[in-house]
Amino acid sequence: MCGIVGYIGHKEAQQILIGGLKRLEYRGYDSAGVATMDKNAKTTLLRSKGKVTELEARAQTHKTKDTVGIGHTRWATHGEPSKRNAHPHHVGDIYLVHNGIIENYQDLKHMLAKHDYIFKSDTDSEVLAALIDYLNKDTSTLLEAVTGALKMVVGAYGIALFSVKDPNEIIIARKGSPLIVGIAEGEVFIASDASALVGHTDRVIYLHDSEIGVCSREGIQLYDLDAQVVDAEVEKLELDLQAIQKEGFDHFLLKEIYEQPASLRSTLSGRINVKTNSVKLGGVNMSDDELRDIRNIMIVGCGTAYYAGMMAGYFIEQFTDDITIRSEVASELRYRSFHVPDNTVALIVSQSGETADTLACLQELKRRGVKCLGIVNAVGSTIAREVDGGVYVHVGAEISVASTKAFTSQVAAITMFGLMVAQAKGASVKALNTYVKELYLLPGEIEAVLENTSTEIKKIAKEYARFEHALYVGRDTQFPIALEGALKLKEVGYIQAEGYAAGELKHGPIALIDDRFFEVYFLQDNWLYEKSQSNLIEMNARGAHAVVITNTDKRISAEKVVRIKTKLEILTPMVFNVVSQLLAYYIAVARGNDVDQPRNLAKSVTVE
Ligand code: F6R
Repeated sequence: MCGIVGYIGHKEAQQILIGGLKRLEYRGYDSAGVATMDKNAKTTLLRSKGKVTELEARAQTHKTKDTVGIGHTRWATHGEPSKRNAHPHHVGDIYLVHNGIIENYQDLKHMLAKHDYIFKSDTDSEVLAALIDYLNKDTSTLLEAVTGALKMVVGAYGIALFSVKDPNEIIIARKGSPLIVGIAEGEVFIASDASALVGHTDRVIYLHDSEIGVCSREGIQLYDLDAQVVDAEVEKLELDLQAIQKEGFDHFLLKEIYEQPASLRSTLSGRINVKTNSVKLGGVNMSDDELRDIRNIMIVGCGTAYYAGMMAGYFIEQFTDDITIRSEVASELRYRSFHVPDNTVALIVSQSGETADTLACLQELKRRGVKCLGIVNAVGSTIAREVDGGVYVHVGAEISVASTKAFTSQVAAITMFGLMVAQAKGASVKALNTYVKELYLLPGEIEAVLENTSTEIKKIAKEYARFEHALYVGRDTQFPIALEGALKLKEVGYIQAEGYAAGELKHGPIALIDDRFFEVYFLQDNWLYEKSQSNLIEMNARGAHAVVITNTDKRISAEKVVRIKTKLEILTPMVFNVVSQLLAYYIAVARGNDVDQPRNLAKSVTVE
């Protein structure tokens, strides 16, 4: 989604801003821009459609030494991707960048047009710039104009702006769209994502909703919407340069697939104890009595986070008999007349902690008095702050748009939560033994799979990259990973891929099988093996181009069989999923796709 950067200090702003925008590229965008101002309020505005490198090339011929500026990467919502619609928007005295959506912009535009404002773009953001400019004509400070404007708008925003009337100030504000401020001696850095601040400072302030910050070389002063002073809490940024660099990998996606043994270890670290077969999650903030009373677990998320919830739900069902699990797609749930039974705990799953639909569900569930726990990666994110407690998955920065290491750790974190509930309910240590042991083994098993299958998968990917359609099939615990595998292939491979439960094939999708399709079949050697195998045979009989991912030694007839050696039983689908991640990655590479920033996608979906 859109990204914001800003700088006020004593260094050249243009280079700092463009460097920051490059760090935000992973979030997905279609145009970019920067506006800077010198001490005499002379401004330079550069905008371009396409990549930040194009903006950078323009900056080569329009270099400035200005020490104040704002920048933006735009992911189009209102109006096509174009230079005209790119931010910063300049209206009168104001230069502004905006993330989010102003819902009542048409009404405001109409009102402003009556006061002779002429709009050059199709965006809601330009209307906000015009509104602030308009109000600023009658206010004594820019802060007053900004608070006035923000009280008039309906919607979500993260904004940074400056006025040519004051060359020593940038104003920022947020509601429903993240903003972080980095503080250094005589400098303030602004960003919508911590990765743009790394290397500049590790002292940061996370803005809360409805807070406004006035930034100058002396630091930042926070206010509420009534312009009353608010105290700021300075925190240490836990993100280093290494985490946001490729470190020898061709793509972040591959790096993050390979990081999974380590990232999963950090999710599990200090939380599971194989000697006592027990789990302890510090951040859950629930007593044993409260855990014992849980009868329903509702798991809410979008995309991969939703599938992670579904996957973990399948596991939890196996070791608890008095808990009902439901997994919900946040974008659907938020508008449904859903019912929440008593004794429900909601798990809000989000890598970024900023996904708009997931956040909206959290807010609705909290309004209804439901206990909400976060399964979040981004420390300090909105969801992490608004939940009643939770589990950070601690996978480090996930830069690639396609989520991989977060999935694995989300499943582990939710499963651990389930184990902790079962423990509180008096499940025997023996009953939990297999799950705790397998969680403990999982990082090493993933390591082995990465080492042993990568070359084979790369070869298969080259061969199957020619297909335009795919079916991912699995039964029972293989079903969620069939859905997740199909999602990965869609997003990075640009191949139409369907995830299906094996038993559903005969109810429709088997009609799809022909030479334009290939099939990925997850076949675990467990008590359902015979049933799953017969679905595979039915597919083969219809000419399937099947790639079977399996842990069995038994004879299998299929075009390709990828055999995985693993000590795991229950958690086997988690290692199958890693093979499926590799397959999607290598197919995307073979097709020459933009692996880390797939077309039309954004890393963090902060608008509906
Ligand atoms: C898929 C993917 C998305 C995200 C979804 C939720 O690879 O990355 O489907 O999983 O947008 O994002 P978070 O977890 O940040 O809420």
